[in-house]
Amino acid sequence: MSRVGILFSGRGSNMAALLDGASEPGFPGEVAVALCNVADAPGLERARARGVVALCIPHRPFRGDRQLHEAALDRALQERGVEVLCLAGYMRLLTPWFVERWSGRMLNIHPSLLPLFPGLDTHARALQAGVKLHGCTVHLVTEAVDSGPILAQAAVPVLPDDTEETLAARVLAQEHILYPTALRLFLERRPGYGDPAAALLNPLPGPGRAP
Ligand code: GRF
Repeated sequence: MSRVGILFSGRGSNMAALLDGASEPGFPGEVAVALCNVADAPGLERARARGVVALCIPHRPFRGDRQLHEAALDRALQERGVEVLCLAGYMRLLTPWFVERWSGRMLNIHPSLLPLFPGLDTHARALQAGVKLHGCTVHLVTEAVDSGPILAQAAVPVLPDDTEETLAARVLAQEHILYPTALRLFLERRPGYGDPAAALLNPLPGPGRAP
């Protein structure tokens, strides 16, 4: 049973989805700690309500020394024996030091079908671009932002009358399904994860396949 850590910064809905997924019988991991960098993040309460150790290690006291802050996070993770780390709306850029330390075992969820729309404001940019499909991606974290190997994706249609908010809500509902599913597959299949058949979680019905 792998020990999982979660890093988040805000409302923590993906963190909560991971906790709910991990509490399912037979899930191949347990969440050892949820860490946050914002003292009043609503996600802290969400985690505690689910009986998980939720700690805040604010970045401000480290006065811009990103790596020193990350060293404190890293210590908290090591102390709890965390082996796999999930970023769930963690809104800080990571240093190469931290990325290297967690290389191959740090996952992130991003609200677009990468490699389209890395970075911020993904839903507005999807509407602006006129794409008909949008979605979310779980990927391994590498040094270049939102560019690591893709583990799993879920797609949603973009509807003619969509606003940024309606599209974001449709994608978020998929994020909450995708992230625990991708984590389960990652933990079960490690280190062989990456089989395209496993990564395609929402295949369209096609010839020879039951709808
Ligand atoms: C999500 O859209 C996630 O894809 C992105 O940040 C947002 C976090 O939302 N990385 P929440 O805190 O999980 O509700």
